[in-house]
Amino acid sequence: MACNFFLRESFGGAKAISGTRRPNAALHSWKANIMGKTAPAARPANPRFSSGPCAKIPNFSLDMLADAPLGRSHRAAVGKAKLAEAIDLTRDVLGVPADYRIGIVPASDTGAVEMALWSLLGARKVEMLAWESFGEGWVTDVVKQLKLDAVVRKADYGKIVDFAEVDFDNDVVFTWNGTTSGVRVPNGDAIPADRAGLTICDATSAAFAMELPFDKLDVVTFSWQKVLGGEGAHGVLILSPRAVERLESHTPAWPLPKIFRMTKGGKLIEGIFKGETINTPSMLCVEDYLVALKWAQSLGGRKALVARAEANAKAVRGFIAGKDWIADLAEDPATASTTSVCLKFTDPRIRDGAAFAKAVAKRLEKEGVALDAGAYRDAPPGLRIWCGSTVETADVAALMPWIEHAFEAEIEAQAEVA
Ligand SMILES: Cc1ncc(COP(=O)(O)O)c(C=O)c1O
Repeated sequence: MACNFFLRESFGGAKAISGTRRPNAALHSWKANIMGKTAPAARPANPRFSSGPCAKIPNFSLDMLADAPLGRSHRAAVGKAKLAEAIDLTRDVLGVPADYRIGIVPASDTGAVEMALWSLLGARKVEMLAWESFGEGWVTDVVKQLKLDAVVRKADYGKIVDFAEVDFDNDVVFTWNGTTSGVRVPNGDAIPADRAGLTICDATSAAFAMELPFDKLDVVTFSWQKVLGGEGAHGVLILSPRAVERLESHTPAWPLPKIFRMTKGGKLIEGIFKGETINTPSMLCVEDYLVALKWAQSLGGRKALVARAEANAKAVRGFIAGKDWIADLAEDPATASTTSVCLKFTDPRIRDGAAFAKAVAKRLEKEGVALDAGAYRDAPPGLRIWCGSTVETADVAALMPWIEHAFEAEIEAQAEVA
C-alpha cells in the first residue's frame, strides 16, 4: 500500500510530526522560555498518553497494513480468514480457555458490554459494582433502561467496592480496570469458582496489560484501541460455557435489536464466534489489530505486555513517591491501575483544583510532551497518564520532569494573577 504515515498534529501552533519525529529544537527552547524556567532536557519521543485511543505499537506505520483485504467482502474466504485469525491470536495472547467463545462485535467495548447485559440479564438477581464513570454507565443501563431491581454497590473515585460483600450467586457486573479512576480489581480471588451467577466484566482498559482470571469470569469485553493501540469501533466479547448456557436457556423480557442477537431458535449462533460477524467490520481495523497481536507475540505474548505496563506505571509511581504536591488517585497500591494511572495535585497553594489541573494538562500538550493527559471529564481533577503496553517506559520517564515543570509554572502563573 503506498501510504505515507505521518499524522500531523499541532503542538502550540507549530506543526510537529507524530510518532518518532519531533518538533525542532529552536521551537523547543522558545517554548521552554514560555514556562519561565529551564525546561527538562529530554522529552518523550512519543507524547501520546491518551487513555483511548491509545498509542500505536512502537514504530507503527500504515504500510504495515498492506495485507488488509480492502474492497473485499468480509464474508469472502480472505475476509473470514482474517477475522478467524484475529480470534485465534486473541485467544493465544490473552490465554483464553479453549472452551470459551470469542466474538468480534459491533460498537466497540460499549457494544460488547451492552450485548451481554441485554442478552444475559433478567434470569437472576443482579449486583452492579461501580467505582468510576464507566461502571456507573452500566448501572444506568441496568437500573434505568432494563429497569432491573439490582443491588448497586459503589465506591468513590480512588477506592474500590468491597468484593467480600458481593453475592456471586447473583449475576455481577463490574469493570476490571476503572479507566477514569485508575483503580482496578487486584485479582479474582474474591470470586468463587463455584458461583451460581454470571460475572460480566468490562475489561477494556485491562485486557492484555493485566492478567484476567478467565475461570472466574463468564463474560469479558474489550475494544481494540486500548492496550494494543488498535482502532476504535470493534468490540470483543468473550463468553464462558456458562454464559453460553444462559444465552441458550434464557429469553430476555425485552426486545433485542439485531446487533445484540447471539441466538437463533434458542441456539447460539456459532458463526459469530468464528468470524462471521453480525454486520460489516472494517478490514483495515482488523488488519491493524492483527499487526498489534503479532507484535505482542513477537515480544513474548501476554506476560511481556503485562511487564511493559507494569514498568510504565512504576515509572510514574517512582516519580510521585515522596512528593507532597502530587499523589495517586488510587488510595490502595493493591488496587492501583497499571494502565490508566490517575494523579491528583495536592499542593495547598492550589486555589481552583479543576482549573489548575486543566492548565497543567494544557501546558504539557502545548509543549508536545503529553497529549490527552488530562483527567476524564467526570473524574476528580488531575492528570491521567496512559501506561498501557504500547507506551515506551523511556517516554513515561521522560514525561515525569515535565509534569513537575508544568506544575511549577502553573503555581507561578496562579500567583501572578492573585
Ligand atoms: C472501562 C471502560 N468501559 C467502556 C469504555 C467505552 O469503550 P468504547 O469506546 O470502546 O465503547 C471505556 C472507554 O474508555 C472504558 O474505559
